[in-house]
Amino acid sequence: MKKSYALIAGVALLSASLAVNAQDATVRVHDAGTGITIPAEIYGQFSEHLGRCIYGGLWVGKDSDIPNVEGYRKDVFEALKALKVPVMRWPGGCFADDYHWVDGIGPLEERAKIANNNWGGTLEDNSFGTHEFLNLCEMLGIEPYISGNVGSGSVEEMAKWVEYMTAPAGSSVANMRVANGRKEPWKVKYFGIGNEAWGCGGNMTASFYSDVYRRYATYLRNQPGNDLYKIASGASDYNYEWTKTLMEQIGDRMDGISVHYYSIVDWGNKGASTKFDEKSYYTILSKTLDVENVLKKHIEIMDEYDPDGDVDLLLDEWGTWYDVEPGTNPGHLYQQNTMRDAIVAALNLDIFHKYTRRLKMCNIAQVVNVLQSMILTNETDMVLTPTYHVFEMYNVHQNAEYIETETSTALVKGLFRSVPVPVIDATASRKDGKMHIDIVNTDYNKSRTVLVEFDNVNAVRKVKSARILTSQRAQDYNDFSNKNQVAPKAFKDYKVVKGGIELTLPPCCIVALETE
Ligand code: AHR
Repeated sequence: MKKSYALIAGVALLSASLAVNAQDATVRVHDAGTGITIPAEIYGQFSEHLGRCIYGGLWVGKDSDIPNVEGYRKDVFEALKALKVPVMRWPGGCFADDYHWVDGIGPLEERAKIANNNWGGTLEDNSFGTHEFLNLCEMLGIEPYISGNVGSGSVEEMAKWVEYMTAPAGSSVANMRVANGRKEPWKVKYFGIGNEAWGCGGNMTASFYSDVYRRYATYLRNQPGNDLYKIASGASDYNYEWTKTLMEQIGDRMDGISVHYYSIVDWGNKGASTKFDEKSYYTILSKTLDVENVLKKHIEIMDEYDPDGDVDLLLDEWGTWYDVEPGTNPGHLYQQNTMRDAIVAALNLDIFHKYTRRLKMCNIAQVVNVLQSMILTNETDMVLTPTYHVFEMYNVHQNAEYIETETSTALVKGLFRSVPVPVIDATASRKDGKMHIDIVNTDYNKSRTVLVEFDNVNAVRKVKSARILTSQRAQDYNDFSNKNQVAPKAFKDYKVVKGGIELTLPPCCIVALETE
């Protein structure tokens, strides 16, 4: 996709005001189409045994007083169903390389109790294990993505886990599953061989890990009707050498290679989730947008080694990462989620749509109560975050035809690696004869006028529905005492004109249009 930007060079950082045409910005929609389908997996989630993601988030147990469906928290279960989650990664993250799957099967009272050493030393009673995760996925129609233990596990342990989950009854390992109450094997496609092998997953070099990967992958067997899609533990953001080495040494023995990218500017001073100023708002957006450069560079390397596109790229951890909420366990990574996070989510998804030739899955970190989550829970209640609402507004793009857009907009000078922030950003797709267009106004405090124009100027466009996600301030969030401060509402500030649609967008907002 080409974008033409009018850069406000040298103008005070936060005063983007250049008018492009009569409107502040123009979004040109190339409605002839691209023939490219946006994989649903771009909207993937990540669930780790970390803080209250699993316990108190997804799982409360069958005997809990909290309303539950077979032990899954009912409110969260229903919210995830509505979100149409395509794929979910589990059990980590760093936890995956400390996880021994046999600890989490069989009678609850006999399951091993361990310390969760990565995340605050919290006691892990393994009451949520393989059965609980795979049954949840099955009930919600989610494709499971299992992350296997390379760091502290063995080839035998990993191979047996795959057999336990996917082999028909008959072998001793598969019969253990049957004895634990599950006769038919589950379907498990996505299998990650380690996580962050350069760090918490074993502190390996890329070359050493490549050999380790090849060894582990050899023994992960396909079963009748269950072909594995094997994923290598990839780079952290800017570590292009890691990707290069794995492409060279593993090649198409992997189906996918991952990369992780968090919107953090300073690990030593991540900043608060709800208390930030205009400068920090734009800095986080600038860092977020740099993911495009990172994806491009990893893809460039992959193109060089694999011009036929046999190996996919998966961004299987992404999102904002702030200081934890005051008074919470620093190891539990619990943070609030504001309109700024909603803008971050939308900008990321807009970028992901452009790179699906190679980028086939993305998993935001994480689904409940951890980092940029969809849902926050307390003992009795649940809150949907602004990020949840973006995922809900955008889920129409799953498996839709990607439609190119070209945006002419002013830019705010970049505060992270000079990556500029477009005032207006947009994405579009088409499904079942309907066009879905999302437009983001990143401006911290100014309304912006936008003309959405179509290549086919004679097309009569009807807006079938228009919704907006916004609030008074970028710092606004939903909490247990005010659950709908940031929630989608009907949007009326638009006019259909010949060949297009004119809109006036309030500051810091996301508008979702459905047109015919
Ligand atoms: O998402 C939190 C942690 O971030 C994951 O466990 C790890 O893979 C990454 O460093």
